[in-house]
Amino acid sequence: MSMMDQLTHRGLAALSKQYGGIFHLKMGYLHMVAISSAETARQVLQIQDNIFSNRPATIAISYLTYDRADMAFANYGPFWRQMRKLCVMKLFSRKRAESWESVRDEVDKTVRTVASCTGTAVNVGELVFKLTMDIIYRAAFGASNKEGQDEFISILQEFSKLFGAFNIADFIPWLTWVDPQGLNDRLKKARKALDAFIDKIIDEHIEKREKRRGALDEAETDMVDDLLAFYSDEGNKVNETEDLQNAISLTRDNIKAIIMDVMFGGTETVASAIEWAMAELMKSQDDLKKAQQELADVVGLDRRLEESDFEKLTYLRCTLKETLRLHPPIPLLLHETAEDAAVSGYHVPKGSRVMINAWAIGRDKNSWTDPDSFKPARFLRDGVPDFKGSNFEFIPFGSGRRSCPGMQLGLYALELAVGHLLHCFTWELPDGMKPSELDMNDVFGLTAPRATRLIAIPTKRVVCTI
Ligand code: HEM
Repeated sequence: MSMMDQLTHRGLAALSKQYGGIFHLKMGYLHMVAISSAETARQVLQIQDNIFSNRPATIAISYLTYDRADMAFANYGPFWRQMRKLCVMKLFSRKRAESWESVRDEVDKTVRTVASCTGTAVNVGELVFKLTMDIIYRAAFGASNKEGQDEFISILQEFSKLFGAFNIADFIPWLTWVDPQGLNDRLKKARKALDAFIDKIIDEHIEKREKRRGALDEAETDMVDDLLAFYSDEGNKVNETEDLQNAISLTRDNIKAIIMDVMFGGTETVASAIEWAMAELMKSQDDLKKAQQELADVVGLDRRLEESDFEKLTYLRCTLKETLRLHPPIPLLLHETAEDAAVSGYHVPKGSRVMINAWAIGRDKNSWTDPDSFKPARFLRDGVPDFKGSNFEFIPFGSGRRSCPGMQLGLYALELAVGHLLHCFTWELPDGMKPSELDMNDVFGLTAPRATRLIAIPTKRVVCTI
């Protein structure tokens, strides 16, 4: 148990240097297996994915997801399958134009905010966290619910702390009564706060549906509206049918828990990727120059960047890939075994918690040359691994059944935000700081954001109006 503080992406990567690409830890009663090589990741995410596709859930996670009524922590099975279908086909799909539009609008707003602060130091970390929060909040609850956002952010922050808090009862169940940090009370309070907040929003949405007899204008619908189309007083039901409308009916708990998945899945992940990309480019001035020169050549400084430009922005895309390789926003993928298994000749017992170290795999010297250096040009070469999920050397979005369903939306927000920030402004470090002095440490939690926020001074670069 004294090794608990080593269960981070960095701690486990260090242990893997000593013990190999797969090793076992026993924490209290819990079997844990750490995976840090591309080949073992392939074993569990592709070859034996039928055994390795459950999720582990701590006491806090089970409680805060209404007993795993969501998708991200549901075990693999018919309920998860239909929930996933619902998310992929409805909530995150390209057809859900409102989510994509809210990305464009909110990125525009952010650019205007930066334009109003040119010449002064801007906290890029806070700026992009606000950006992704605004995007997801608006996509989930609609544009008219803005005033509750601060309250909601504090609920999310308490959830996040509780998800990460060490609870001895997760490892030694008969010690549940000990609870020295008062976690059980905090859990109850946090879920009550969420209930009060989202119940009100759900009620307002139900009222709106009733008033319009279900005939909502598509452009006005948000994720709560989309989920309410599957709502039933009769409780949660799952049918194995292809027709989505008949495949699943949702309870209020399901709706609340999915909304929290979207909030956690879509805010800090995207925000940390944008901030890391900007920080790596500030540190590597040559790459910053190349990416900005490409923007000047392809787009020109007399107009704003448009969506159709992206396919020609090869170097910019390489910098984003390189950022995701060095800083995968979710550094440890958490899975659980549904039955006994064997991996690379080792026995993995049923119910083991499997931690796939995407961070260590992206920096493995057997797969990458000079693995710890930021070198976007490596992605210009033929045959270099891609992150779509079939190259296990590079898995920032996971791979296989449990891989990220929000990848397209996340990448879109990442490209748009970094593209606009680089095209519209030049950036300098404050107080004469040299690029080599930038702190590049991270902190470990559900995601691995920068330890210190990136602060930089923007100057307007384009000659058109912003
Ligand atoms: C740069 C952005 C993002 C990155 C790097 C990322 C990465 C990931 C990773 C690594 C996983 C776990 C994969 C596994 O266990 O094998 C995941 C799962 C998930 N992500 Fe993302 N994600 C991003 C954006 C988003 C967005 C924008 C959303 C939603 C709007 C989202 C929603 C989810 C959900 C719901 C899951 C759980 C899926 C399941 O368990 O079946 N993600 N993501």
